[in-house]
Amino acid sequence: MAQQGNFKSSSRMGGLGDGASSSSTDLLSGGKPRDQGLKDVDFERRGFLVKVVGGIGAAVAVSTIYPIIKYIIPPVLKVSSVNELIVGKATEVPEKSGKIYQFNKDRVIVINDNGKLTACSAVCTHLGCLVHWDNAQNLILCPCHGAKYKQTGEIISGPQPLPLPVFKARVEGENIIISKS
Ligand code: FES
Repeated sequence: MAQQGNFKSSSRMGGLGDGASSSSTDLLSGGKPRDQGLKDVDFERRGFLVKVVGGIGAAVAVSTIYPIIKYIIPPVLKVSSVNELIVGKATEVPEKSGKIYQFNKDRVIVINDNGKLTACSAVCTHLGCLVHWDNAQNLILCPCHGAKYKQTGEIISGPQPLPLPVFKARVEGENIIISKS
C-alpha cells in the first residue's frame, strides 16, 4: 500500500514537474499507468490463488463425499439372464404340489399335476401377490383377492386382467429345469 502511495505521488510530481520524462517512466509498455499495472498483476495473482485453493477444496470434497455416496447407495447387482436353469431337485415338487423358484428376474411356480410339470409366473397379474397351487381345487389361487388360474396360467375367475406368463419346466435326471417358453 505504501508503494502505491509513492507511485501516485511520483506520478503527480511528474505531472507538475518535468513532464514528459517522468510520465513516460510511470507508463507500462501497454500504455497503462504503472500503479494500474501493479493492480492487474495483483488481481491475476489473487485469481490464480483462488483457482488453486478452489481446486484443492473441490478435490477434498469429492474424495470425502464419493466414499460416503458409495456406502449409502449399494452397487447394483447385475443378474445375467439365462435361457434355462436348474432350479432344484425333482423330489422338491412331489405329485399334486407346487413350488416357487427364482428364474432370472421372475418368480416361477412349478406345478406337478400327476407327474406332468407345468410352470408359470407366480406373480398375480392383478396387484402382484404371490400365488400358490391349491390342490383341493386343482388350480392356482391368489390369496389376496381370490384370482383363480388354471395350471397353465389361464384365467378362471377373479379381478386379474391377464393370464400368468408361461414358462417351461422339465425333469432331467433328478433336476428340475426351468426355461423360457
Ligand atoms: S393380487 Fe391377486 S387377486 Fe389381487
